[in-house]
Amino acid sequence: MLEPLALALALVHFGLPLAYYWYTKVRWFKRRWDITIDENYRPRVTTVIPTYNEAKHMVSKLNNIYEQEYPRELVEVVVVDSASTDRTPELVEKWAAEHQDIKVKIVHESCRRGMVPAINYALKTNEPSGEIVVLTDADAWWPTTALKNIVKYFADDKVGAVTASVTYEERDKANMEDIYRHYYNILRISESKRHSTPVHNGPLVAFRKNLLYKIGLLPEYVGNDDSTPASVIAFMGYRAIQVNHVVVKEYIRENQFWRIVRRAQHLVAHFVKTKGYVKNKNLYLYDRDFEVIWKIEWWLHVANPWCLLASLALFLTSYITSLSMASFAIMVVGVFLLGSKVFRTWVLQQICLAIAAIKNLRSVNIVWSK
Ligand code: GDD
Ligand code: MN
Repeated sequence: MLEPLALALALVHFGLPLAYYWYTKVRWFKRRWDITIDENYRPRVTTVIPTYNEAKHMVSKLNNIYEQEYPRELVEVVVVDSASTDRTPELVEKWAAEHQDIKVKIVHESCRRGMVPAINYALKTNEPSGEIVVLTDADAWWPTTALKNIVKYFADDKVGAVTASVTYEERDKANMEDIYRHYYNILRISESKRHSTPVHNGPLVAFRKNLLYKIGLLPEYVGNDDSTPASVIAFMGYRAIQVNHVVVKEYIRENQFWRIVRRAQHLVAHFVKTKGYVKNKNLYLYDRDFEVIWKIEWWLHVANPWCLLASLALFLTSYITSLSMASFAIMVVGVFLLGSKVFRTWVLQQICLAIAAIKNLRSVNIVWSK
């Protein structure tokens, strides 16, 4: 009796993401963009870097922006520092004094309240001179062509947010996130070609400034500065896309497991709350294409992990209560499959999403340990 249900849950859990991935890859990924792209579009750009104790990365981060193939007089850099204790702001000041041909501003917060409140504080107190606002992390590295290849999509008025694909350093490639990066990049780009992707990448995410102000700056109910504002903009009817051919690198330092849980917490809270937030603000505009993408991604982040756990619980119960050999055999196969890295990583990610949902009952983790 329990077994058919357990089997159905397992089929949904694995079948839905696989089917969605293959469908988007075959039907959407290879399409041409239905967006006007202008390779020579050069609006004024403001890059905002939130920092908390980033002394180790700061100089190379600023050099990395300085080296972008983009007219320097059109680039403004804003660093918003939340009372770092490692001389991060002093390093920025020194660097700015040595690079007078690029505009650098430092905004100081007197105490640490988290990345999103810090960015909002900077946007509130110093309106960016750029028409495009690019958010990035101190520990993210961009190829020199990144900025111009992101900005060119904003030549189309429909486009409200653009993000890059992400990769990791060689030494980090064995980590669990990287195994799926390739698939995720394909999925996100496919969704973007159809309409928009609800998941954006903090190492480089660009917004049309007037839209950021229209939505009342970054929503503060989630700790992320990427997926949530981008999705609010998509729900307003603009495109919020991840583009191909721009790949930025992210450095990873803290304990992977808890970092993934924390980011999963942000994504779960994002999927639970964002649509209601947009509706409450009267910004919601129904669009069938984005609605379908949102619903599927909602399912994958919020509900799907629980299908796996429920299925496992049912197989276990069925084995314990009626010594079912079929249940036993299926669980043995599952344990064997854990030998495969892809399967193991997938299962671990589902566990992280479930832990994230439980942790969110207490708080969504706006200020994380660094
Ligand atoms: N000003 C300020 N205040 N900056 C902060 C704070 C803070 O309290 N906390 C973190 N930051 C800065 C870091 O210095 C870094 O430049 C950036 O925010 C990202 O923080 P990381 O500690 O490197 O975290 P991450 O790489 O895991 O963060 C990623 O996940 C978020 C979603 O959960 C990033 O890609 C974010 O952009 C993304 O929104
Ligand atoms: Mn980081």
